Amino acid sequence: MIRKFALAGAALAATTFMSGTALAQTIGFSQVGSEGDWRPAFSANMQESAKEYGVDLKFANAQGKQEEQLRAVRAFIAQGVDAIIIAPVVVTGWDQVLREAKEAEIPVFLVDRDVDVEDKSLYVTRISADFNLEGKLAGAWLAAESLGDCKVVELQGTTGSAPAIERKGGFEAVLDQFPAMEIVASQSGDFTTDGGKKVMEAFIKSTNNLEGICASFAHNDNMQLGAIQAMKEAGLKPGEDVLMVSVDYVPAIKDALDAGEANASVELRSAVGEFIYPVVLDYLKNPTELDKWIVIPGDLHTAD
Ligand code: AHR
Repeated sequence: MIRKFALAGAALAATTFMSGTALAQTIGFSQVGSEGDWRPAFSANMQESAKEYGVDLKFANAQGKQEEQLRAVRAFIAQGVDAIIIAPVVVTGWDQVLREAKEAEIPVFLVDRDVDVEDKSLYVTRISADFNLEGKLAGAWLAAESLGDCKVVELQGTTGSAPAIERKGGFEAVLDQFPAMEIVASQSGDFTTDGGKKVMEAFIKSTNNLEGICASFAHNDNMQLGAIQAMKEAGLKPGEDVLMVSVDYVPAIKDALDAGEANASVELRSAVGEFIYPVVLDYLKNPTELDKWIVIPGDLHTAD
């Protein structure tokens, strides 16, 4: 890999010398899809900030399908891009394609979601929020709000995705500290508003109109927004009858917080190009070993 960068560096220096301007780096970005409100905002920011950083970005939307991501990454390898950025749909199934990128000497950066690979040298670093901490923040807020006594329904994100696994893990770690707090029903709504609505409709049926339920924890705001709709249609008052806590802090949940229909949301920043591109571009200039995880901070927001 070092040799490739040395050669690329020499070629770049020569071109810069001849033309007086640096060549743009070509980066392939395989994005999960366009589910919810957060992801399109993240995609737009990555595309906009690519221009600011002088990056020639090849953007591929996988529409939620890992097969599409594998195809896109192989196409980037065939095109000989300078680097590949992946926001992986799910954590498993990445070893082979990452090995192919490594053999082609193209550095891979994970953003947003994680992968589960044995050989960590297959990617340079992950640049993302701490999903486990997000789950903990949601759980800690709920523990304080309910005085440690709360039956929770949980709307999970995409099965097998890092945010679903890690947010659940963080949330449960807090609940484990409180004997009177427990998750009584949990189902995946696939991070979509429709999915969240369907899951909450099922919970409403199975729990006799959420009888005895004190909170709804959704792994993202869009599922919570769907849950809010389902509860209102069933004559319930989200935010009053049931505490509503979720993750992302998208504009529509801010409106729900203002209207008293949601109570808390953990912010997941979508404008993260400014965190990602400098890391990738610096690495391309000077490929040294980086920490395997560069954490982007987040915050808890309540109606107050
Ligand atoms: O990976 C981050 C999660 O993916 C966001 O919280 C969710 O909205 C998106 O679908």
